[in-house]
Amino acid sequence: MFAARQVFGAAQRRAFSVSAKQSSKVTVLGAAGGIGQPLSLLLKLNPRVSELSLYDIRGGPGVAADISHINTKSTVKGYDPTPSGLKEALTGADIVLIPAGVPRKPGMTRDDLFNTNASIVRDLAKAAAESSPDACILIISNPVNSTVPITAEVFKSMGVYNPKKLFGVTTLDVVRASRFISQLKGTDPANENITVVGGHSGATIVPLLSQSGYELKGNELDEYVRRVQFGGDEVVQAKGGAGSATLSMAMAGARFAESLLKAAQGQTGVIEPTFVDSPLYKESHGVTYFASNVELGPNGVEKIHPVGKITDYEQNLLDVCLGDLKKNIEKGEAFAKQNM
Ligand code: NAI
Repeated sequence: MFAARQVFGAAQRRAFSVSAKQSSKVTVLGAAGGIGQPLSLLLKLNPRVSELSLYDIRGGPGVAADISHINTKSTVKGYDPTPSGLKEALTGADIVLIPAGVPRKPGMTRDDLFNTNASIVRDLAKAAAESSPDACILIISNPVNSTVPITAEVFKSMGVYNPKKLFGVTTLDVVRASRFISQLKGTDPANENITVVGGHSGATIVPLLSQSGYELKGNELDEYVRRVQFGGDEVVQAKGGAGSATLSMAMAGARFAESLLKAAQGQTGVIEPTFVDSPLYKESHGVTYFASNVELGPNGVEKIHPVGKITDYEQNLLDVCLGDLKKNIEKGEAFAKQNM
């Protein structure tokens, strides 16, 4: 993304600039936070973004003023929580990324964030349903397994729910899975693309290594899976109470937004793993949202890919995942219904 001029040939550059002409407003809610700032920076560097709208309960205009000096074409505007601030930030948005909320401290699970983040996401979802009902909504705030269902319930209650346009951002799990296998195998992580399905917390994160032709065994396999499932804890512990993954998450969120923009601007075959309203385990397990590879198109979700062939070991992981996921989803839905 950053080195487009150096790495793209002339024909690709022409195609790139043609598609980049189409305008796209991208809004970040929680833009002054640990994720929000580097995410906004990466979006400012993306030529597919023409308008960047940065909202936070504190510090949005400051981050916007800083980023607006970067010499790329997009316009940047920051918003405070004035009566019209959030509405203006959202109006006309094509993509809304939501990293607003509190991050984990050492010893916390993502579910421990539920009490605080559930109401933050509910309120922001209400605002988005009112002011940008047609935008693609990308939920980063944890616990994603519950905050996505909360957002869906809010949109349903306001009569504007479109399951093709609501996404839980699980890209970081795939980024980690690819990086960690490359460290074990000495390969280029840029060429690794490990499928990860399920949800976005602990045992609900299910890497499907076998689909990339790898056959780790015994302890090595257990440790790899554990690292992908609990990779976030490494960062939480290393930061010693100062937050969770922000920089790698910003990269992952920017990658997902870029993929949506590519698809919206006509590119076909764009596939990203993401947590969506999914038919895959609805009837069999009552699991209404599930992360798998999803083909993106101009209207959001184009095609949800099934999990595919997996080993018995991976099936066991999936069975545990489905049980946990169901509870996380129901918790989000119950909160939304009781606290609308
Ligand atoms: P942070 O505390 O650094 O930033 C959060 C920002 O949200 C702050 O600037 C705060 O002012 C803002 N905020 C709070 N309430 C708001 C509201 N009602 N409206 C607008 N802005 C509001 O936290 P950080 O590290 O940026 O993490 C944010 C969230 O992302 C956390 O819930 C964290 O668990 C989650 N996360 C998700 C990941 C994923 O893979 N999906 C990975 C890492 C973190």
